[in-house]
Amino acid sequence: MADELTFETIYAQAGDDLAGIPWASLAPMPALVQWLDGQPPVTGARALVVACGLGDDAEEVSRRGCRVTAFDLVPAAIAHCRARFPGSAVDYRVADVFRLPDDWRRAFDLVVEIRTLQSLPVSERATAAASIAGMVAPGGRVFVHGLGRRDDDPPGRRPWPLSPHDLRAFTSAGLTDTELAVQPRSPGPDERHVVTAVYTRPAL
Ligand SMILES: C[S@@+](CC[C@H](N)C(=O)[O-])C[C@H]1O[C@@H](n2cnc3c(N)ncnc32)[C@H](O)[C@@H]1O
Repeated sequence: MADELTFETIYAQAGDDLAGIPWASLAPMPALVQWLDGQPPVTGARALVVACGLGDDAEEVSRRGCRVTAFDLVPAAIAHCRARFPGSAVDYRVADVFRLPDDWRRAFDLVVEIRTLQSLPVSERATAAASIAGMVAPGGRVFVHGLGRRDDDPPGRRPWPLSPHDLRAFTSAGLTDTELAVQPRSPGPDERHVVTAVYTRPAL
């Protein structure tokens, strides 16, 4: 894992050429759009977008009427968000998923986690998932989306897909398993698949 470029380096090497950022689609994640279409959030709901990258998912959730906070570890990512979406209603912040502000704890009706856990080494994943789960308010939900693998598949190179074992960190953190969809990533022998999971914190 030591030969993986850091996220700071990836953003620095890309500079203003966003096409040089491997995950940059410059559009919201279709699975999130589909999910939000099916379950429109309540206007004014508080939402947190984890490791927001270039900001497209945060803007999509904001467009749907949520009050959105979005964070990323890398200042250059947050600078891109602010430059791409001037006048945005999203509160973009630099923050580390392992050290989130105390006043975010259990403060969000919707937490969106897309392709972050798979970017973190498997050994750090349960801690990150517990931190993310801790941001969900009573009655709130976390939407999780990323590549998936079976528990006994080797993780390979980054992105290291999520296994059922990885995802159990959300239920271990006190959330209820609400939705799970597993889809093939592409036709053919590729073992990888795409996972969408939703977990809910029981209401008080
Ligand atoms: C693969 S990108 C995904 C970005 C975005 N969620 C998306 O799907 O387009 C992973 C993101 O996680 C961020 N990241 C990595 N480690 C992080 C950490 N410890 N805390 C917050 N963000 C982190 C990276 O800077 C990067 O923007």
